Amino acid sequence: MKRFVPVLSLFTVLTLSFGCEAEAAVTAADVAKHNVANGKAVYDANCAACHASGILKAPKTGVKADWAARLPQGMDTMIKKSIDGYTAAGSMPARGGNADLTDQQVSDAVAYMVKSVL
Ligand code: HEC
Repeated sequence: MKRFVPVLSLFTVLTLSFGCEAEAAVTAADVAKHNVANGKAVYDANCAACHASGILKAPKTGVKADWAARLPQGMDTMIKKSIDGYTAAGSMPARGGNADLTDQQVSDAVAYMVKSVL
């Protein structure tokens, strides 16, 4: 049994360090994969109506506290939920309600919003 203790300790350390990484699951590198300038234009036209004011419980752009529990999901999950739409505390319409937006445009807008809270 004794020889398992170091293994267990190592496991604990690894679990804890992964736990810390999860909190910073979204990094500047994730944002840099997107065209943030294009994202701002998409955001201004399609997303700001809800995300600037926080209407309908939308997380506000630039307000870190609104995103603290969301960022750990990771960029891909947040993008997918923005494309598909979802309902939790409030209701996020698919593609912000504009079916003409491409996946790329929605992704860039998410990157713009995320950048504002990193
Ligand atoms: C009609 C209002 C409305 C519009 C327009 C809107 N959103 Fe949202 N959005 C919401 C609400 C409300 C939530 C929070 C839903 C919840 O968590 O219950 C949300 C959540 C989100 C989230 C967080 C997702 C997560 O996983 O926590 C992202 C990212 C997002 N929206 C991106 C966008 C983008 C990009 C656009 C524009 C293309 C957009 N939204 C347009 C209302 C809106």
